[in-house]
Amino acid sequence: MKIIKVKDQEQAGKEALKIYKQAIKDGVKVFGLATGDTPKSTYKALVNSNIDFSDCISINLDEYVGLKPENDQSYDYFMKDNLFNDKPFKQSYLPNGMEMDAQKECDRYNKIIDKYPIGLQLLGIGRNGHIGFNEPGSSFEERTHKVKLTESTIEANSRFFENEDEVPKYAYSMGIKDIMNSKMILLEAFGKVKAKAIKALVEGKITEDVPASILKKHPNIVLIVDEDAASLLGEK
Ligand code: GLP
Repeated sequence: MKIIKVKDQEQAGKEALKIYKQAIKDGVKVFGLATGDTPKSTYKALVNSNIDFSDCISINLDEYVGLKPENDQSYDYFMKDNLFNDKPFKQSYLPNGMEMDAQKECDRYNKIIDKYPIGLQLLGIGRNGHIGFNEPGSSFEERTHKVKLTESTIEANSRFFENEDEVPKYAYSMGIKDIMNSKMILLEAFGKVKAKAIKALVEGKITEDVPASILKKHPNIVLIVDEDAASLLGEK
């Protein structure tokens, strides 16, 4: 595991941009994308660069169940707003949060992932170590599935909504197996709130209680972390 320490998110964006440019040079055509505050500086750096995704495919990690794409809290909206409007891909895929038949939607999404194996997967990390919306306890073998969000995730995400009651309670998420299948992973984390999760990822034992802990088994993973997120590393 390679760990790049940065002083702030702007520098993180620059480091991430280098990784994206190298990936494109290496012939990567399928990019797994993430939402949340964490990847914003990376998307900003991509938008302000000359990178061209017009012959690439993007596949997002997750989407809330029940939010229409035009809802400004949907991940579909977020992706357009932060990346796709400025840097369009040939084709961009997200789970369809308005499909109420979970089996149908998960099967559809898994077929897309099978058809377009992910070359570079971008990840954030939840405070409890979740990745995508794979909450603690998720099986490492799981593929795309419908998830009941934990209280801690609902509370963390409530900052984007008028109040906690409006935060969707379910989401569709790519599974940990799908994430692990991507050829390369770039995980970013910033701030003290992520320090425990980063410590568990880097130094903890592999357990389904900390979904991100499985990432240390991935042969090609890079972490970009700021000092706060890295602050517990090396401490007993
Ligand atoms: C959500 C997303 C995750 C993201 C996490 C952390 O739960 N589904 O993909 O990594 O939040 O979000 P943030 O980057 O805003 O801290």
